[in-house]
Amino acid sequence: MLKKTELLYSGKAKDVFATDDPAVLWVTYKDQATALNGKKKVQISGKGALNLQISTLLFKAVAAAGIPTHYLSTPDQQTMLCQRCEMVPLEAVVRNFASGSFQRKFQTEPLLPLQPAVHECYYKSDALDDPFANDEQIIALGWAKPATLEAIHALSDQVNLVLQAQFSAVGIKLVDFKLEFGWLADGTLVLADELSPDNMRLVDEATGESLDKDVFRKEQGPLTPVYQTVLDRLRGAAHV
Ligand code: C5P
Repeated sequence: MLKKTELLYSGKAKDVFATDDPAVLWVTYKDQATALNGKKKVQISGKGALNLQISTLLFKAVAAAGIPTHYLSTPDQQTMLCQRCEMVPLEAVVRNFASGSFQRKFQTEPLLPLQPAVHECYYKSDALDDPFANDEQIIALGWAKPATLEAIHALSDQVNLVLQAQFSAVGIKLVDFKLEFGWLADGTLVLADELSPDNMRLVDEATGESLDKDVFRKEQGPLTPVYQTVLDRLRGAAHV
């Protein structure tokens, strides 16, 4: 039986612990919602378990498509076991439709289709408020090598196809999402972090309602019934 040992990192939505296996991390999904880069913070009972289950289902779908991920298993209602990796300090955002900061920046109509999907990277830094960085900035500042960036863009496109298929099968439009990547000890670049409605925008194709953390950001009502809807729909899909 694997044992959880010291706390390595306490994030906004997850705690990461070491285990007695140096290659395995114990990731606890927390009942906490944050917005405005942590400035708004609330406890929401049940959110961690829902995100864990959605994330589990989506990591399995991504892995089934042959994309390498850090996911290992989900031993209980709060825990994901993951392969330990060294994180690339970037957030890779993919946008299929205009929303959020993109829509504000370019003053587009809501959910304007974006073709090709727009890729943006943000440098992970609480002190700098996660600034946008273009490819040359990232390379010049040493945050990733050109080949790594190329791989991140290619893997992000592949993940987009898998997630779009998962969600369109259950009447949900995948508007945008954020990914993070890391290096395994053997040099493989893998999809890491989580795949949950905390990190993506989802819109009900029938009603146009938000099915993601925008409900919390915009104070549109309780979050857990919305996340439960996403989980129930994904679970109900025949091909999942
Ligand atoms: O706010 P913005 O429109 O740039 O967000 C794009 C996508 O990235 C959204 O799905 C949002 O949930 C996600 N995101 C995230 N973590 C951040 C910033 C954005 O998961 N720190």
